[in-house]
Amino acid sequence: MRITFRIVLSIIVVVSAIAFLLTLWQVQQEKEGLRRDLDRRTSLLAESLRETIEPLVGQPQTARIQQIVEKFGNREKLAGVAVYDAKDHLIAITPALAPQLPTIPSLIPEAMNADRGTGGFVHIGNTRMYLYALSFHREAVVTGAVVIFYDATYLQDHLSRIWKNNFVGFLVQALLISLTTLFVVRWSIVGSIAKMAEWMKRLRTDTTAEPLHFPDGDMFEPLTKEVAQMARSVLAARASAEEEARLRQAAESLWTPARLKEHVRTLLSEKSLFVISNREPYIHVRKGTQIECVVPPSGLVTALEPILKVCGGVWIAHGSGDADREVADQQDKLRVPTEDPQYVLKRVWLTKGEEKGYYYGFSNEGLWPLCHIAHTRPIFRIDDWEYYQIVNTKFAEATLAELEGIDEPVVLVQDYHFALLPRLIKERRPDARVGLFWHIPWPNPESFSICPWQRELVHGMLGADLIGFHIQFHCNNFLDTVDRTLESRIVWEHFAVRRGRQTTYVKPFPISIAFPDHGEAQLMKPPATISKGSLLGGLGVKARFLGVGVDRLDYTKGILERLRAVERFLEKYPTYLNEFTFVELGAPSRTSIKHYHDLIAEVEAECDRINWRFQTEEWKPIILLKKHHSHEEIAPFYEAADVCLVTSLHDGMNLVAKEYVAAREDEQGVLILSRFTGASRELRDALIVNPYNIEQMAEAIRSAVEMDAEEQQARMRKMRHVLKEQNVYRWAANLITELAQIRIEKGSIAKS
Ligand code: G6P
Repeated sequence: MRITFRIVLSIIVVVSAIAFLLTLWQVQQEKEGLRRDLDRRTSLLAESLRETIEPLVGQPQTARIQQIVEKFGNREKLAGVAVYDAKDHLIAITPALAPQLPTIPSLIPEAMNADRGTGGFVHIGNTRMYLYALSFHREAVVTGAVVIFYDATYLQDHLSRIWKNNFVGFLVQALLISLTTLFVVRWSIVGSIAKMAEWMKRLRTDTTAEPLHFPDGDMFEPLTKEVAQMARSVLAARASAEEEARLRQAAESLWTPARLKEHVRTLLSEKSLFVISNREPYIHVRKGTQIECVVPPSGLVTALEPILKVCGGVWIAHGSGDADREVADQQDKLRVPTEDPQYVLKRVWLTKGEEKGYYYGFSNEGLWPLCHIAHTRPIFRIDDWEYYQIVNTKFAEATLAELEGIDEPVVLVQDYHFALLPRLIKERRPDARVGLFWHIPWPNPESFSICPWQRELVHGMLGADLIGFHIQFHCNNFLDTVDRTLESRIVWEHFAVRRGRQTTYVKPFPISIAFPDHGEAQLMKPPATISKGSLLGGLGVKARFLGVGVDRLDYTKGILERLRAVERFLEKYPTYLNEFTFVELGAPSRTSIKHYHDLIAEVEAECDRINWRFQTEEWKPIILLKKHHSHEEIAPFYEAADVCLVTSLHDGMNLVAKEYVAAREDEQGVLILSRFTGASRELRDALIVNPYNIEQMAEAIRSAVEMDAEEQQARMRKMRHVLKEQNVYRWAANLITELAQIRIEKGSIAKS
């Protein structure tokens, strides 16, 4: 209130001062003009009178002069006329003026002395007059003066009117400006501040407070964004604290972000975590003149990002975006997420040759098909192997530089891109605790043995103190492989490998997602969901049932098999023609590899073929949305789909299955899940299928769309319960705890 008052008062004072000065200036100008006008008029009159009177002065014709003066003095506004001789004696005067003029005004002798017309204002009686005196002569000698008296009271009236009009006008303006300002201030500033204050107060007292929205472009918009971010953090912190308190009381074992944070802090005594992966969590790409930040489609990123956000630390990854260098600092680092930085992303740059050999070649044409038994032949080239070693060494150097000065650092190496990294790090930093998490399956020893460099790979991996897989089966395969490949002792009771004095533990850690059951996740959730009808309508079809698939377009995902299952379902149960539409959100992936490139063409052709067979004017059985979709774009599909199909031919875990279940707060929807995914070990209430069995998958689709709401709820509820318990915070807690508890035997590392 006080600031409003101050603003309005200042406006009134300034506008009034300006109004006063402007009016003063205008009055001065007007006065000057009127005076000039009076001067001109009276001088003309005086001159014409002088012409008539001059010859008569000094003659015995005073009465004649008096007559002329009286006649002349009758003119409008003229207060009177007088004639004086050179000795200041009155010769003639208009009768009305005579009583008011007992003495001669000084201006008249001055005019005679100066011998020129002189004008000025005088007060005669109570009247303000303009007086003009003009001397006359005889033979060049001044013999008197004619004097014109002009009533100047109108002038004063006129000037007063100007004062009044102008000043009142300006005051009205000042009032209007003040009122407008008052209105604007109250409406857009005081009102908004009050709204924000009220909202912040509600945040303190009410946990259900809705986020505050100001319209786009509003001056408060940037402020609200910041405050909203802060509020979200505060709410999330409060929710976690409350959750923690609740858990402590109930002695439950749920893992929350806050609990993990506390746990990791205690375990690592304030030391940072170091995570190394090939794929970075944020890719900066150029879109015209803008730089866009993209979250890549990667289960690894989905799982690790919440952990880094909670625990902080450094994430070292390949900088693969074309604008990545522009946003990183001189040490190739940046704090992410940019809108609310919580950890450091350090980017490692690769040459085209390195990327081709190490990433596309050895990792994705060699190890990926080798570990996923999906009937795609692995390709091992010596050049790719050499690049794989070069890039592993490059990442080792980048990591070692970060570890400098840190005692017993904890390093989490991720996935098949870095099998050699654990040993490269351990050789130089035996005090480091190195964990390797393998996100994809590990095949049986016979299959693995086709890799020409299996010995080197396993040797590199055994540099780690702990190796994690998603399931026990993959751990067993790995231990069998070690047994067949290297000289070592397998301690089966502890699932450990002993080589010399070094021990590597091999354990299952089923990875998961940050199940959105806590304050933070709730807050981050987009406010409105989109209905099934509008989702399908937006895609140009009408259907009663919606099936969804979300994948990278990868041959391990069983996408072709899934499409054929949809075809078979419609063929077998034609009542679902016009009723069931399957939407595939397929993100193109690793397209520089021929196999992936061809797969996209094959998927497209299969969609076309099936659509051509069944589609009608308003309906299509399959819609392929071939692009990378953000989490926000995928969420409405998860929330609306009657059935989600995850039909991988082989998959370490598969987080899409878990994301679908997590999205179903309504406890509806059915998950069809391949038995060859790690997720099928936990999500037992899904409809478990063999993706090679098209008939079985078609039947599963039918069961899903015909399943009654109670059964859907019962299954979904159980799966949600599992995910709530087995969330990614538990995964991280188990992995880090295990690693932290291992007794490190410094200097024990075997070099070859
Ligand atoms: C799998 C791998 C991840 C990888 C992801 C996406 O989930 O385990 O390491 O990030 O696929 O593949 P991309 O090659 O695009 O990183």
